[in-house]
Amino acid sequence: MSAESERKKVFVSDDEMKKQREYIQLVRAITEQRYSSKPKAFVHTYGCQGNVADGERLKGMLEQMGFELVDEVNGADLVLYNTCAIREHAEDRVFGNVGALKPIKSVNRDMKILLCGCMMQQERVAKKIRTSYPFVDIVFGTHVIHRLPEFLYVSYSTGKKIYELPDDDGVITEELPVHRDSDFKAWLPIMYGCNNFCSYCIVPYVRGRERSRDPETIISEAKQLVAQGYKEITLLGQNVNSYGKNPDFGCNFAQLMSRLNDIEGDFIIRFMTSHPKDCTHELLDTMARCEKVAKHLHLPFQSGSNRVLKEMNRRYTREKYLELLNYAYSVMPDLSVTSDVIVGFPGETYEEFRETVSLVEEARFTSMFTFIFSPREGTVAAKMPDPVSKEEKSKWFRELLDAQERIAAQRTASMVGKTYRVLCESVNDSGMIEGRTSGNIMIEFPGDESVIGSFREVRVTESLTWILKGEMI
Ligand code: SAH
Ligand code: SF4
Ligand code: F3S
Repeated sequence: MSAESERKKVFVSDDEMKKQREYIQLVRAITEQRYSSKPKAFVHTYGCQGNVADGERLKGMLEQMGFELVDEVNGADLVLYNTCAIREHAEDRVFGNVGALKPIKSVNRDMKILLCGCMMQQERVAKKIRTSYPFVDIVFGTHVIHRLPEFLYVSYSTGKKIYELPDDDGVITEELPVHRDSDFKAWLPIMYGCNNFCSYCIVPYVRGRERSRDPETIISEAKQLVAQGYKEITLLGQNVNSYGKNPDFGCNFAQLMSRLNDIEGDFIIRFMTSHPKDCTHELLDTMARCEKVAKHLHLPFQSGSNRVLKEMNRRYTREKYLELLNYAYSVMPDLSVTSDVIVGFPGETYEEFRETVSLVEEARFTSMFTFIFSPREGTVAAKMPDPVSKEEKSKWFRELLDAQERIAAQRTASMVGKTYRVLCESVNDSGMIEGRTSGNIMIEFPGDESVIGSFREVRVTESLTWILKGEMI
C-alpha cells in the first residue's frame, strides 16, 4: 500500500469531520430549545494521560454543543464516564459509579448517561452494561470519540440506545476542539495505540495498532500552546520511543524531540511512556542535549527477573535495562528515573520477586508505580497458572514498597541545599505553593498564589521521602 493510501486509511476524513461539526450545531439547537439555561455536563476520566487527553477533547465537543462543564454529578443533565480497563480495580470503580446513577436517573429521566473509553472496547463489559445497566443511553468505543456529536443527536432526537463499539485498528482524528483542564500544563498526544502485546496488558486490544501523528501537526500544535502561554507540554503515547518507527515516516522520536526543543519560548517538554526495548542512545543523547526537555525518564521495567520478563513478552533483559540506565545517568547525571513494576505475575516465585527488589536497589528510582498483577480477560497471561495467593503477593508488594521508600528517602535527602527550577502548580491544604522540579519531584514552599503557572528558583531546605520542602530565592 502506498504511503498516501495508508494515510487515508488512518486519518478521519475531512468529510466525516464536517459531518460531525454539523451535528454539533444540531445538538446545540436541541439543547437550546430544551433547556432554559445551559445544560450541565459532568465528565470524568479514569486511567492514563492518553485517556485524559481524550477526555479533554470530549469536553471540547460538549462545550461546542452548548453544555456547561460541572464538577458534580448531582444536578448534571449529562454524565460521561471515560473509562480505563488496565486493572480490575479500575473497572470495579466504574461499575460502582454507574450503578449509583440509577436512582438519580429515575428522578431526572431526561439525564443522558454516556460511557466510553477502554473498558467499553471489551465485549464482556459491553454485554454487562446492556443487561445490567439498561438506563445507560450511549456506549461508544475508543476509535469513535469524534462521533460524540452524532451519537448525542440521534439519542436526543430518537431516544434510542446507542452502542457503537467498532473493533478495528484505530484512526487518527485531528482538529477536535479541546477543553484543557489547565492553562499552563498541556497534554500533547503524538501517537496512539500499541503493538507490543505485553502478555499481561489489555491496551493493545482496546486501543488498536500503533499510529503516529504527523510531525508538522504536532509541532504546530506545540507552537500554538507556547504562544497561548503553556509552560509544560507532555508528549503522550503508550510507547513514545516507537514514534515514526517506520523508516518511510521520516521523523523518529529523537528527531521530533529535537524539533520541539527548537521552538522559541520559555517552556518545558516532558514525555511518557518509554519502552526500554525501543529506548536508544540517540534518544538519551538528544534528551541530554535539549535544554527544554525535562531531565525525567519514566522507563517501566515491570520485573527484575529475565524469566519473568520473557513470559511478559517485554523483549529486553535485566542487563539491557540496567545498561540503558547507566548510559542515561552517564549523559545526564541529574536525571530522575521513575518506573512501573508488576508484583505477582503468574508463576513468579519469591526468588524471582527478589530480583525485582535487587533491580530497584541498583536502579535507584526517584519513585515507582507498583501494581499487583491483575488478570485481564483475553490476554495471554490471564490463562497462565497463578498459584501464589493474594495474601502472599500483598506481602511481597509491601516488601518492595519498603525498599523503594528507603531509596527515595536517600535520593531526596541528597537534594537538600541545592536549588532547582520549579514550575509552580497549585496551593495545597496547608497554604503552601506546590510545584515540580525538572525531575518531576514534588516540592512545597511558602509563596503567593500569583506565582502559579510560572517557573521559580527554589532552594530545598528539607526532604520528606516523596516530597521536598523549600524556599523561593
Ligand atoms: N505503555 C506503558 C504502560 C501502560 S499501562 C508501558 O509499556 O510502559 C501502565 C502500567 O500498568 C504498566 O506499566 C504496568 O506496570 C501496569 N499494568 C498493565 N497491565 C497490568 C495488569 N494486567 N496487572 C497489573 N498491572 C498492569
Ligand atoms: Fe501495555 Fe506493553 Fe503496550 Fe505498555 S507496551 S501499553 S504495557 S502492551
Ligand atoms: Fe487505561 Fe486505556 Fe490508558 S486501559 S491505562 S485508559 S490506554
